[in-house]
Amino acid sequence: MMVEKKNHKIAVIGGDGIGPEVIREGLKVLRAASEAIGFNFLTKEFPYGSDHYLETGELLPEAALAELKTFDAIYLGALGDPRCEPGLVEHGIISSIRFKLDLYINLRPINPYADHLVPLKNKLAKDIDFVVVRENTEDLYTNLGGIFKKGTQDEVALAQMIFTRRGVERAVRYAFELARKRDGRKKLTLVDKANAIRAMDIWTRTFAEVGEEYPDIEKDHAYVDACCMWMIKNPEDFDVLVANNIFGDIITDLGAMLQGGMGVAASGNIHPGKVSMFEPIHGSAPKYKGQNKAIPIAAISAVAMMLDYLGERIGAELINSAIQRCLNGGKIPDLSASRGLSTTEIGDIIADAVQNP
Ligand code: IPM
Ligand code: MG
Repeated sequence: MMVEKKNHKIAVIGGDGIGPEVIREGLKVLRAASEAIGFNFLTKEFPYGSDHYLETGELLPEAALAELKTFDAIYLGALGDPRCEPGLVEHGIISSIRFKLDLYINLRPINPYADHLVPLKNKLAKDIDFVVVRENTEDLYTNLGGIFKKGTQDEVALAQMIFTRRGVERAVRYAFELARKRDGRKKLTLVDKANAIRAMDIWTRTFAEVGEEYPDIEKDHAYVDACCMWMIKNPEDFDVLVANNIFGDIITDLGAMLQGGMGVAASGNIHPGKVSMFEPIHGSAPKYKGQNKAIPIAAISAVAMMLDYLGERIGAELINSAIQRCLNGGKIPDLSASRGLSTTEIGDIIADAVQNP
């Protein structure tokens, strides 16, 4: 019987700085995986980013958003450029896609590929295996608020931390489901600052209520400051964490360091069942642009997350195991700046490992 192969439609936004360089390696590895396994995909590149903005004054037009919705996934490099006002392209493109496509989960697995990447004394890769479920459409990122009497002694600046019952509940529920699905400790930790920010009580209550539907999942709680401490002190105690947008942003940079740095940490912006976006956690690192120096592993790892989302579990596993083998077997000896391997070489090495499992 002929089984029709799926043809995954992937929108590619290389973006700014090192974005296009790391994305190029991710696509190279995606191609290697598709050849090894036999799935099909097609890509379309979109030009959005600082160069495009500076040339045309356009960030992300409505028509582009509508077109993005027709894809199965979006693969994003990085955005941000010192020639633009801080936050302009980040907000106008990344946040805009997250909000307008309602990508309400930002999934950030923290699971080092090799022992030598773990910066903690007496901890190994096996001690760090957790996932942060970051709420991705509310909170301070809505940018509700503003500045009044700007530039005067009476200036007032206001930023609103917004939580809705619907937004909190869908994040909490996703996290409980993930804890149930994972081969982990079946534990979910709520991260908040409800002791100081009383509005965060909406998280406390929603977590308790939804939690009743998950008697099989151990419930845990950490204030965000203590969470940072525990992530360093006892990372093995975590399985799944759920956090509001801003705290999730902050703790996942810490998490990225636990797994070996920004060069390896990947994320998925997800609306289950709809077009979702996958990207490295790192930024555009403008000073390394065009130098073929950036580590593309985070971008490659994001491809694995994307394949997993698209139902290509074997492809995802193939890529992750290739990265793991290259980092453990000395093909990619270390991730320091002096490692001597270029962005392209790291991509070639991993693509080769994918083709020769
Ligand atoms: C991230 C980034 C973004 C965020 C920036 C670039 C707006 O730090 O994806 O974690 O804060 O969400
Ligand atoms: Mg961040």
